[in-house]
Amino acid sequence: MTSPSSTSRSGRFRQPASGDVIEFTESVSFDYRLWRQDIIGSMAHAKMLRRIGVLNEEELKGVLEGLEQIGREIEQGEFQWDRNLEDVHMNIEAALTDREPAGAKLHTARSRNDQVALDLRMWLRDQIVELLGDVEGLQRALLGLGQRSRSVVIPGYTHLQRAQPVPLAHHLLAYVEMLERDKARYIDCFDRINVCPLGSGALAGSTLQVDREPVARELNFLDSEGQPKVSQNSMDAVSDRDFIVEFLAASALAAVHLSRLSEDFVLWSSAEFGFVTTADAYTTGSSLMPQKKNPDLAELTRGKSGRVIGNLMAALTMLKGLPMTYNRDLQEDKQPLFDTADTMRTCLQITAAMIDHTEAKAEFCNRAAGDAALLATDLVDYLVERGVAFRHAHGIVGSVVALAERLERPMEALSLDELRSVDQRFDAEALKVFSLDRSLRERRGSGASGWEEVERRLDYWHNLLEDESKNGSPA
Ligand code: ARG
Repeated sequence: MTSPSSTSRSGRFRQPASGDVIEFTESVSFDYRLWRQDIIGSMAHAKMLRRIGVLNEEELKGVLEGLEQIGREIEQGEFQWDRNLEDVHMNIEAALTDREPAGAKLHTARSRNDQVALDLRMWLRDQIVELLGDVEGLQRALLGLGQRSRSVVIPGYTHLQRAQPVPLAHHLLAYVEMLERDKARYIDCFDRINVCPLGSGALAGSTLQVDREPVARELNFLDSEGQPKVSQNSMDAVSDRDFIVEFLAASALAAVHLSRLSEDFVLWSSAEFGFVTTADAYTTGSSLMPQKKNPDLAELTRGKSGRVIGNLMAALTMLKGLPMTYNRDLQEDKQPLFDTADTMRTCLQITAAMIDHTEAKAEFCNRAAGDAALLATDLVDYLVERGVAFRHAHGIVGSVVALAERLERPMEALSLDELRSVDQRFDAEALKVFSLDRSLRERRGSGASGWEEVERRLDYWHNLLEDESKNGSPA
């Protein structure tokens, strides 16, 4: 099926490549995923070749029809990929030339070096649009659980020690904030992906008079004013993979966020915490212990973040020693890229589904948050309001904590006399400080954990995510 004239070895070589060389160098087994972009890019390139007179009208028609037909065959799983033809680009070009002789003109003023850069950029643009939708899906799931658990309070932790009580929604919205920054990073890198490299040739452009801007326009490489964006240095254009590194870096950080979120859910679903329960359909069992119900989705998401971080390292390490311009090493950009995009998409989707099927166990949460010791800082604030310097107030309340410990009683069970035995400035109001509700009423500063502020942010995110789901893509 391989036609010798359509391979990169035609003319120059006296021997065919040996079998192990073909196996070692081929990339079609994974870069076939770029077929749609490759075909769309080739169509735009063919139209440009028509404008500059390389193809006549009939040849253009044949090329476009041939490419369309190949696309349909690939879609229906009827296309025969051939490893002897190395990659997606040569497979499609060879198949085209088999059915349309003018296919032999398609590679005029083009190299696989600018072609693969083009395909990758177009593929990644689509992925980012999809990913942004997935990130928002997870934001909506977090928001939903927060809205369903409006009155639920948990201990907030530092050093994994109970610190101060917070509404569960406040904790969940912290992740919504992180994910919003992840979205911003994806949108920001979209901008630099969205530059058309086609026309750069192998590395030095072409002696033929290609006009790049209309091609860029047709392929939707446009700036905010609707002007085409084409790369401005042919050597940079064929060797640049910064846009992939940026995507992998943005994803690595987003994966770290997913991993931390997963860790919280793993802890929360343990008997020790008991803050949440997830529907059976979104948990797994043990092959040995019949009583087990495990949070495997969260654990796997946490685990997969390792691969996503590794993919960033793989890409950076692959790039760092490359002389200009294209080197075959660059073919190694694809598996990390595909893996990161796939992993991010499934992790975002499964985490959202898991959270949609998770409920807070209000009683357990509120009991854990009800420990009055968590309001010790509120008692410090109370003294500060009565003119005691913070550092002194901190010491006084420390002594109150020690007293409660000595008497083996919770802090809120101390009498006013006992408080006054530590410091005379305590009055009857001090006992009211040990109210969770008061504590959450008083925390009013922007971004604080008080009821009103959390309600305000729930509304904010509700409006934003509703609107964004109507708007869609970043472009
Ligand atoms: N399959 C190659 C890649 O992904 C396409 C570019 C090959 N270019 C070359 N001059 N060998 O990098």
